Amino acid sequence: MENNGEEKPFPVFDGMSVPPFPHLIEDAEKRFKEIRNLECRKDDIILATYPKSGTHWIWEIVCMILKKKAEYMKETKEFQFLEALPDMSIVNNLASPRPLNTHVPYRWLPKQHIENGGKIVHVLRNPKDVAVSMYYHIKRLHGGSMDFNTFYEKIFVGPVQHMGGWFSYEKEFERAEAADKQGAIFTVHYESMKKNPTDETKRLANFLNVDLTDEVIDEIVDKCSFRKLKEATESVKDLPKFSNRSPDKMKQLMTKMYRKGEIGDWKNHFTVALNEHFDAVFKEEMKDSKIKVQFE
Ligand code: A3P
Repeated sequence: MENNGEEKPFPVFDGMSVPPFPHLIEDAEKRFKEIRNLECRKDDIILATYPKSGTHWIWEIVCMILKKKAEYMKETKEFQFLEALPDMSIVNNLASPRPLNTHVPYRWLPKQHIENGGKIVHVLRNPKDVAVSMYYHIKRLHGGSMDFNTFYEKIFVGPVQHMGGWFSYEKEFERAEAADKQGAIFTVHYESMKKNPTDETKRLANFLNVDLTDEVIDEIVDKCSFRKLKEATESVKDLPKFSNRSPDKMKQLMTKMYRKGEIGDWKNHFTVALNEHFDAVFKEEMKDSKIKVQFE
């Protein structure tokens, strides 16, 4: 167990701290292996993201593209969230094409899906905004009075980072994408989707081989705007039945997950000293990387 900055321990597996879901606390290796060995269908789509990169947003866009309709899913993405499911057999009952989602690093993604050349949608968000979003996420779910600096030092760039840390996760994905001869991996930048949602949604639909009219694309963009998606989460969506939290509490937590949805909120949280520290870490970690991270 690794300390999450305060008293509450997070489970540790394969050098990463992982979310404290009961089954991960009990046996994280079992679930990671179940994910790795998942029986896949050729038309499965895996949404693979480092936590807090905009997974809920892009998942909803992917679902609308697949349905060819700007219609909200009744469920939240948690119903297809591989490491959070109480029981992996749940995915067997999902209709195809299944838009599965996960935060496990590339090396733990379902082997069969990769062998099949199955499609992977990968969302990349700048790590400073990811840090801020994760800070609030952890506070919301686990409480405590930890300040941002403590979170940054102990968790974000600490010795055992969440899902192995942003740098490790993204560099592993970059290597996989470079080796991907079949064009199975599609990376969308959170910031590009925010600045240019119409073009990015078209690119995504193209990658998924779905023909959509400009009208449907516009409707998807509109319904998946930060404000409307937040409202829909409150008014339309069913909540995961597998949580031990009360339905009211779950609804509150899910809605609050739509916090700001902006580029550059890190400027309100990183002190000058912290920013300098992070920039130095970034420069060293990314010296061989071609990823163009958008901080603004
Ligand atoms: P913030 O905490 O910065 O607001 P994930 O879904 O991977 O957990 O990521 C959550 C982050 O995505 C949150 O960031 C959330 O507000 C943001 N987000 C969710 N829907 C969004 C949307 N439609 N547009 C922009 N950002 C969105």
